[in-house]
Amino acid sequence: MTVTELKSAFQSAYGKEAEAVYFSPGRVNLIGEHTDYNGGAVFPCALSFGTYLLLSKNDKKLINFKSLNQPEIVSLAFDQLTTRLEKSWVNYPLGVFAQYIKRGVKIEQGYDILIWGNVPNGAGLSSSAALEVVTAFALNDQLGTGFDRTVLAQIGQKSEHEFALVNCGIMDQFASANGKKDHAIHLNCDTLEFELVPVKLKGVKILISNTHSPHKLDSGAYNQRVAECKTAVEQLNKVRPLKYLAELTEEEFKKIESAITDPIAHKRARHVVGEVQRTSDAVKALKAGELEKFGKLMNASHVSLRDDYEVTGPELDAMAEEAWKVEGVIGSRMTGGGFGGCTVSLVKDEAVDTFIKQVGEAYEKRIGIKPEFYVAEIGDGACKIA
Ligand code: GLA
Repeated sequence: MTVTELKSAFQSAYGKEAEAVYFSPGRVNLIGEHTDYNGGAVFPCALSFGTYLLLSKNDKKLINFKSLNQPEIVSLAFDQLTTRLEKSWVNYPLGVFAQYIKRGVKIEQGYDILIWGNVPNGAGLSSSAALEVVTAFALNDQLGTGFDRTVLAQIGQKSEHEFALVNCGIMDQFASANGKKDHAIHLNCDTLEFELVPVKLKGVKILISNTHSPHKLDSGAYNQRVAECKTAVEQLNKVRPLKYLAELTEEEFKKIESAITDPIAHKRARHVVGEVQRTSDAVKALKAGELEKFGKLMNASHVSLRDDYEVTGPELDAMAEEAWKVEGVIGSRMTGGGFGGCTVSLVKDEAVDTFIKQVGEAYEKRIGIKPEFYVAEIGDGACKIA
């Protein structure tokens, strides 16, 4: 939908004009998976698709939420803004209102809100973070709270913890808030220091393959991984004081890994320590223009997420394996939380059509689901459009 179409949809929904239009993007992570909540680095880019939020003030002392993607309409009084709803898409924007209130901001103005997003839901491309961040950005602008983009990302993350009940790291919300066109964000998730690295891929495309697997990012399995990493840290603490797994180099880990007596926690920790190293190596490779090396690290990341972190599953594995067979594929791996969703691949321009045909057919034959492919355009972070 264009912004003009969105504005007329707002007019039909509320019988008046939208006063402001905001946008926040989804993201694709190039490498550094399940490292963010372990104090490690990530390397995501914001996408050109995302979530739009249109609003107008009302004098009814109500916050009205409508979405063009969801049938459910919710209308809340100011004193209902800190209570999570049972099973509702509104929890994503509502959780952000609650975070503002928690930070001492008074909500005394009613708003009519209309949402529309074009990030495929449940594809692991951060549709939820885009919705949280666009809400945080819009409120910041409307209320003049002056929070910087990092704080907006933290508000989104907290909202996800408390209203979506997923104990996620900061990566998705940070990328949505701080993305920059044609750049990837090398973010240290412990200090929140980041560097924008130009992604100038001459003759190479970033291709996203959507498995359309019915499994969504399962909050239970995700939170379990977070807990398993915590167990690993606790057991390592018997031999070395440590806050995050990402503090260990691979060499240091090898010396003390036997302290992790829980075999599952041990595998999870081995993934995290290896992935932190791969992310650092990959960023260096990209800066040096060594794309082949970058691609090999992506492949190794997938293998580790499959064997040690166990978040891939048959759909993502089939998609990556079929991609690895195509000539002109530099690297391919799952991206995001896992358990379904998307892979990200670096593909030479001349191989893109073959990739889509060959991987598409082979995946459908193996899994019985028709996949979808998008050539990623790296876009900017949250903004006010009108
Ligand atoms: C989800 C979470 C992120 C991150 C990724 C895995 O997208 O929201 O914080 O942990 O999974 O890298």
